[in-house]
Amino acid sequence: MKKRVAIIGAGPSGLAQLRAFQSAAQKGADIPEIVCFEKQSNWGGLWNYTWRTGLDEYGEPVHCSMYRYLWTNGPKEGLEFADYSFEEHFGKQIASYPPRAVMFDYIEGRVVKAGVRDWIRFSTVVRHVEYDEDREIFTVTVHDLVKDHMYAEEFDHVIVASGHFSTPNVPEYEGFSTFNGRIVHAHDFRDAREFAGKDVLIMGSSYSAEDIGSQCWKYGAKSVTSCYRSAPMGFKWPDNWQEKPALVRVEGKEAVFKDGSRKEVDAIILCTGYKHYFPFLPDDLRLKTANRLAAADLYKGVVWVHNPRLFYLGMQDQWFTFNMFDAQAWYVRDIVLGRLEVPQDKQVLMADVREREEREEASDDVKYAIRYQADYVQELIAETDYPSFDVDGACAAFYEWKRHKAEDIMAFRNHSYRSVITGTMAPKHHTPWKDALDDSMEAYLMN
Ligand SMILES: Cc1cc2nc3c(=O)[nH]c(=O)nc-3n(C[C@H](O)[C@H](O)[C@H](O)COP(=O)(O)OP(=O)(O)OC[C@H]3O[C@@H](n4cnc5c(N)ncnc54)[C@H](O)[C@@H]3O)c2cc1C
Ligand SMILES: NC(=O)c1ccc[n+]([C@@H]2O[C@H](COP(=O)([O-])OP(=O)(O)OC[C@H]3O[C@@H](n4cnc5c(N)ncnc54)[C@H](OP(=O)(O)O)[C@@H]3O)[C@@H](O)[C@H]2O)c1
Repeated sequence: MKKRVAIIGAGPSGLAQLRAFQSAAQKGADIPEIVCFEKQSNWGGLWNYTWRTGLDEYGEPVHCSMYRYLWTNGPKEGLEFADYSFEEHFGKQIASYPPRAVMFDYIEGRVVKAGVRDWIRFSTVVRHVEYDEDREIFTVTVHDLVKDHMYAEEFDHVIVASGHFSTPNVPEYEGFSTFNGRIVHAHDFRDAREFAGKDVLIMGSSYSAEDIGSQCWKYGAKSVTSCYRSAPMGFKWPDNWQEKPALVRVEGKEAVFKDGSRKEVDAIILCTGYKHYFPFLPDDLRLKTANRLAAADLYKGVVWVHNPRLFYLGMQDQWFTFNMFDAQAWYVRDIVLGRLEVPQDKQVLMADVREREEREEASDDVKYAIRYQADYVQELIAETDYPSFDVDGACAAFYEWKRHKAEDIMAFRNHSYRSVITGTMAPKHHTPWKDALDDSMEAYLMN
């Protein structure tokens, strides 16, 4: 009997796993039967945009947290697939901060070429996973949403690639229930034009806060006020953007901040992050971790220490994304194929996790964190046949990106970087980001 492997999710991580197995098969390896369950009707994960919010047409929570006009927030040179360059996909080098639709096309291009779509059961949500210790088998129960039919199948391995930026973390502050305006979490934010002419309060000081605030500013908000719990973002904001300390409460339409200052606002956008949430996993298989670089209980960042037949992809906080998911997927593939061994002793697995945690905690410097994740990517790709690439070069692009953001937060996306895969320099985009209101692929590729 062939081994059977279940992959949960066909976002960039799950697709990396499919491509990893397909590439081994292409080189002559005998691979297990692979079944990928994807609850949406198409692949791409978060990059598969929908206008929907709340529940979808089947009553399932909408996965998408992306919004219209979203451009990548880091240079594409930091995430390029080592086995499928932007130039190979688009037939030319393109500018460094592609909008979502361009990225979706690129993600899709690699898996169309690999021919793995048939391995995916779309509109099929995983409801429950159970492990039988005696038989060493997982039973995966799924719901075919189109047929409204539930069924279960058995697998030797389960790979969880369901993402962790989809279930919103929604705090409540005094006065929210009587606020006379819209309160929305970033997960449900879709079109910045909704806030044109409005005074907007952005809560949080991380990437969603920075980017959603910038979107609102770009598409005509009257003012943006952002407030931070721990530390300000500290960029040189435009004149109609003020950064304030933590929100204390809301009185009617007025927000009251920790320094006693007040601001009347029309809308509050909670950019307060996301939760790792796996409602389909029982206690003994369920990852519980903070959003950090050394995710809890994962040997080499992917192997579930409490049951090494279960794997997780992409559960770390992310500087590196697509190429890190690839590194992880190739690594997991090689464990499943028996090419790499996982130590039998649980203490050894836990020691690996502890070492990663301690190393992460040794510094809170941003450059250190980028380097830390770069080293992780390098560590994994050194053990598989994933094409080696210039990880240091990708790191350098991230350092430059940080510098460009500090120089001008509304202009960092106008910069270009060199591909670490093909060595070519990205062209300068034809229109500065703040003036480029059309985020379609046609508009972006019009160089
Ligand atoms: C607003 C936003 C903007 C971002 N922008 C960038 C960016 O510019 N650059 C960048 O590199 N990264 C960005 N990211 C990071 C993003 O996490 C990664 O790019 C990438 O999408 C992660 O891939 P993933 O496959 O791990 O997870 P996801 O993309 O979340 O995909 C998970 C998949 O699993 C499916 N799924 C979930 N539960 C089930 C279930 N029970 N059964 C079946 N299927 C299920 C989902 O439908 C989804 O298709 C952004 C994230 C957010 C939230
Ligand atoms: N392409 C793009 O342009 C783009 C846009 C948006 C997001 N993203 C990606 O999406 C991912 C998630 O980013 P994120 O910013 O949503 O999440 P995040 O990085 O986890 O940040 C969460 C923020 O919410 C704050 N927060 C949490 N609980 C709070 C509370 N109770 N009260 C006040 N503030 C609270 C945190 O403050 P503390 O610091 O005090 O904890 C932090 O500033 C990242 O990978 C990011 O790169 C990309």
